[in-house]
Amino acid sequence: MTTAAAISKSFGLGGDLEINRLGFGAMRIVGEGVWGEPKDPENSRKVLRRAVELGVNFIDTADAYGPDVSERLIGEALTPYRDGVMIATKGGLTRQGPGKWQPVGRPEYLTQQVEMSLRLLKLERLDLWQLHRIDPKTPVEESLGAIKELQQQGKIRHVGLSEVKVPEIEQARKVIDIVSVQNKYNIGDRAHEDVVEYCTKHDIAFIPWFPVAAGELARPGGKLDKVAKAHDATVSQLSLAWLLHHSPVILPIPGTSSIEHLEENIRSQDVSLSDDEWAEIEAAAK
Ligand SMILES: NC(=O)c1ccc[n+]([C@@H]2O[C@H](COP(=O)([O-])OP(=O)(O)OC[C@H]3O[C@@H](n4cnc5c(N)ncnc54)[C@H](OP(=O)(O)O)[C@@H]3O)[C@@H](O)[C@H]2O)c1
Repeated sequence: MTTAAAISKSFGLGGDLEINRLGFGAMRIVGEGVWGEPKDPENSRKVLRRAVELGVNFIDTADAYGPDVSERLIGEALTPYRDGVMIATKGGLTRQGPGKWQPVGRPEYLTQQVEMSLRLLKLERLDLWQLHRIDPKTPVEESLGAIKELQQQGKIRHVGLSEVKVPEIEQARKVIDIVSVQNKYNIGDRAHEDVVEYCTKHDIAFIPWFPVAAGELARPGGKLDKVAKAHDATVSQLSLAWLLHHSPVILPIPGTSSIEHLEENIRSQDVSLSDDEWAEIEAAAK
């Protein structure tokens, strides 16, 4: 039996922004289908404030969540921002209704959206701006060219990508420095393992979305239910702790509209298991 190794709780994003690795995803604080206002906006603001109280200083959002609603709620709830709190946003996905998404990567559109994000988040600079999707109709060099200009103007600090494969990351890195990649990934869905390996090798943050598989992994009677009980943890906690353990560049951003789930998810930082125990858990998740 191996002993549990100490896991770093922080990560230096882009080499200069030290953040706590366990963040918060602000997609679940808006209306159904990531569309419109939430049923209880004050609850959304409370969840955001509680996350910061609990030490979260990395909050992920996007112009498309609502659209505009998640960024606006963050601006309302968290300003003036506590020192060290970093908001990561995204642009490049448009909305046509609940659950509908279309990429648009034209330079003039991305520029407008960066300006809108700054306004709603009440910021003068975006610490991390991520291209939500590469638009197949616009060369990525053109999309990122506009972002590079905004970076040179001081409106964006660091740039990341979302839902990309290794060759796309390499293509983008020829245009601009890429500090993060946000792809769908969790203990039960490891299709992007090669991207995790690439990011680990190049010290690029890997931000897994769907870290608790939208609650699916947490379903009672699911594959990890028994093993979580044996370790006195919930399945969500085990799934998040596994991500923290799996690579030092992984920054999980669990999303929730519930203070109870938020508090439970934050406690996953305290789950500490040996390599042998993690190997058993990975086998159970297959
Ligand atoms: N880049 C992209 O394309 C992309 C796509 C999707 C999401 N994201 C980002 O990634 C973040 C995380 O993704 P996600 O929100 O889709 O997936 P997730 O964090 O895996 O799952 C969130 C869902 O799980 C439930 N949940 C959370 N904690 C729980 C717990 N402890 N017990 C039981 N259920 C729990 C939440 O419901 P309750 O509200 O009831 O807790 C919510 O419905 C988003 O918030 C967003 O910032 C990015």
